Amino acid sequence: MAPQLETSPPHLHGAAAGDAGRPACADWTIDQDWQRYTPQQHATWRTLFQRQSALLPGRACDAFVAGMQALPIGAEQIPDFEQLSEVLMRHTGWQVVAVPGLVPDEVFFDHLAHRRFPAGQFIRSPQQLDYLEEPDVFHDVFGHVPMLMNPVIADFVQAYGLGGLRARQLCVLPQLARVYWYTVEFGLVREHGGLRIYGSGIASSYAESVFALDDASPNRIGFQLERVMRTRYRIDDFQESYFVLDRLEDLLALAKIDFGPLYAQIAGKPEYEPGELVAGDTVLTRGTGSYHARRRRG
Ligand SMILES: [Fe+2]
Repeated sequence: MAPQLETSPPHLHGAAAGDAGRPACADWTIDQDWQRYTPQQHATWRTLFQRQSALLPGRACDAFVAGMQALPIGAEQIPDFEQLSEVLMRHTGWQVVAVPGLVPDEVFFDHLAHRRFPAGQFIRSPQQLDYLEEPDVFHDVFGHVPMLMNPVIADFVQAYGLGGLRARQLCVLPQLARVYWYTVEFGLVREHGGLRIYGSGIASSYAESVFALDDASPNRIGFQLERVMRTRYRIDDFQESYFVLDRLEDLLALAKIDFGPLYAQIAGKPEYEPGELVAGDTVLTRGTGSYHARRRRG
């Protein structure tokens, strides 16, 4: 399948969920029903967990590693959201709540604004270890929850939820969603003299954990807010560009920013393609683009 660009709404967690999937609760939460996971489902978790745990040392940032170590997340079984929430609550005031899959934008943002992370209750099938259309418990828990133990990310993700509710009213959600995409989902950070992963979309993917750091194809560009807000992204393939923070603490300033004037500032300005380099970029790696060129030909 040819790579696709973001759609509207472009949010990984916020793609419109049909009424058929609507649970009884207005906030779309469901019982995790941990007891009902089968041995096969725990085995799928174990396979994914062991594979990523072997790959990530030296690749994941320190905050991810510290968060993972402090949480009740292990190889043997799918984590219990109540146990995760107990630890999270003590550290950063966050909770994990179960949802059936994708939820509407306003529901997703409202959860984040109240420091509740909506996590997919289901786990992918053994035939889909490397590809899934909706975020499942492995992506959401292994990828996101360790970073929510970090105070900076904890504040930033809550601010994104508050900002999302406002951006939706202003009809500028695609521009804000790109900030989340290129940070929380696919962000890299300078650390220990190199680049490390903090984005959950990378950290929960074996192939992208390698591609994002080691492959010659993608661009790696210093993070600039306006630039990111004008840059489209891929939803069904590796990213063509990754944006790099100098330090995670830079997100603190972003959590406090008033996006209102920024929306006005970028209104009507051209948007950038995912693989494009533009004047003013701090280019850490000029990508060859070879991977996506092959995909386009194929
Ligand atoms: Fe995610």
